[in-house]
Amino acid sequence: MPESPFGDETGVARLVGDWAAERVVRPTDPKTSARTPDELHRDAGVTVTREGIGAEAALHVFDTVLVPATRAQDDPMNLAYIPSAPTRAAVAFDLATSAANVFGGIWEAGAGAIFAENEALGWIRGLLGWPVTAGGTFVSGGTTGNLSALHTARATARTRRGGRPERGWAVACAATAHSSIRSAASVLDVDVVDVASDERGRLTDATLGPVLAAHPEVFAVVASAGTTNAGIVDDLESVSAVCREHGVWLHVDGAYGGAALAAPSVRHLFRGVEHADSFIVDPHKWLFAPYDSCALLYREPELARAAHAQRAAYLDVIDREATNPSDLAIHLSRRARGLPLWFSLATHGTDRYAAAVEQSLTTAREVAAYIRGSDHLRLLLEPMLSVVIFDRPGWADADYQTWSQELAASGRILCLPTRLHGETALRLAFVNPRTEAARVIEVLDTLR
Ligand SMILES: Cc1ncc(COP(=O)(O)O)c(C=O)c1O
Repeated sequence: MPESPFGDETGVARLVGDWAAERVVRPTDPKTSARTPDELHRDAGVTVTREGIGAEAALHVFDTVLVPATRAQDDPMNLAYIPSAPTRAAVAFDLATSAANVFGGIWEAGAGAIFAENEALGWIRGLLGWPVTAGGTFVSGGTTGNLSALHTARATARTRRGGRPERGWAVACAATAHSSIRSAASVLDVDVVDVASDERGRLTDATLGPVLAAHPEVFAVVASAGTTNAGIVDDLESVSAVCREHGVWLHVDGAYGGAALAAPSVRHLFRGVEHADSFIVDPHKWLFAPYDSCALLYREPELARAAHAQRAAYLDVIDREATNPSDLAIHLSRRARGLPLWFSLATHGTDRYAAAVEQSLTTAREVAAYIRGSDHLRLLLEPMLSVVIFDRPGWADADYQTWSQELAASGRILCLPTRLHGETALRLAFVNPRTEAARVIEVLDTLR
C-alpha cells in the first residue's frame, strides 16, 4: 500500500476527538459574539497555506478565535429565531456518524444506517397516524424538505392531471407560511396563491375552499403545524378535508412545531395531519438533535421516488426496489444525518422526548401567564405551542432594539424583536427543556 500523502493522522484524530468530547459537556458562552471578517482575519491569521499550519495550530485557532465568534444555540436563554437544544447523546453521536463515514444515499452502501434512520422516521410516522407503508428520508433542513415535497407534489399532479395547466402551476398557503415556501415556489417557477387566515391566524377551509374552487392550477396546499413567528397550527382537519375534496396534495410544514405531535397536551391541535400527503419536522429545532436535519415523510414514498430518482449510466446498477434515501429528495450523496436523532431516541426513549417537549410548552405557558398578569407588558396571542409574542406598550422600535441588543451583548438573554400585524413586538421561542421560566421572567421585569 502506498503511504498516504497525509501521513499517519492518528495523533490528529485523537487531538480533535478529545476537543470534541470536552466540548459536548462544556457549557457555552451565551454572549452574542459575531465579529467582522477583518477582525477574524487579524486574530486567526493565515491558516490555509502550502505546507499547512499543523493540527495543533489549526485547532488552537478554532478553539480560541472561531468558536467564540459563534452563537451558543443551546444556551437556555437563547430564545431567538428557533434555537436548538440537542441532547448530549445526539451531539456525541453526530461525531460517531462522521467517524463511520457512511454513504447514506443508497441501501447497498448504507443499509445499517438507513435502517436506523427509518426506525426514527417510523416513530414520527406513528405520531402522524400514517400507514406503515409511508416513509421518507432526512435532508439538511426544512427549506430542502419543503422544496423536495413540493417537487413531488407537482410531479404527481403533472402525471395525474395529464400535463401543465394553461395558467401554469401554483401552490396555495397563508401569508404566515414559512418564507421557504415562497423560495421553493420560486425555484419550481410556480405561483403562490395567498389564502387569508382566520381571526386566530389559522388557515381553515372557510377561505381555502373558495380559493381551490377558483384556482384549478393549485397542485398543493401548504399548511403550517407551528408557524415560525407565532407558533400557530393551521386547522389541519378542515384544510385536509378541502384538499381531499379538490384532489389537491396537502403538505404540512411542521419544521418547528411538528415535534409537539409527541406532546399529549397539544396533540389535538394536529387533528387532520393523518390525511396529509407529505410532512416535515426538523430534529435540529425541537427534537433535540444537532444541525442539520429535517425528517421528510411521504404518505406514498413511491411518488417521491418517481419525482426524484436520478438516472445515469453509472447509477443503473442501483437496486431500485430497495429503500434508497437518495431517491426521495433533492440530493444524491448524503450523510446519514438522521442517526443522531435515532441514537438519542434509542438512548432516552420516546417517553422522555414527550416529557422534554411538554417541558418547553409548560415554560412557554408560565412566561405567557406572567406577561398576561403584568401591568407593563401585553400578551399579543395565547400561545398554541411554545412561541410567546408580546409587546411593551409605549415603546418605539428603537427602545426594543436597544433593550434586545444590550441583553444579547451581556449574554443574559437573546430575545429579538419581530412584527405582528405590522406592529413591533418581542418574541420568545422555547425549545430548550433547560430554560427556566423564572429566569426569563426576571429579565422581562427589566422591560418596565
Ligand atoms: C415552519 C418552518 N418551516 C421551514 C423552516 C426552514 O427550515 P431550515 O432553516 O431548516 O431550512 C423553518 C425555519 O425556521 C420553519 O420554522
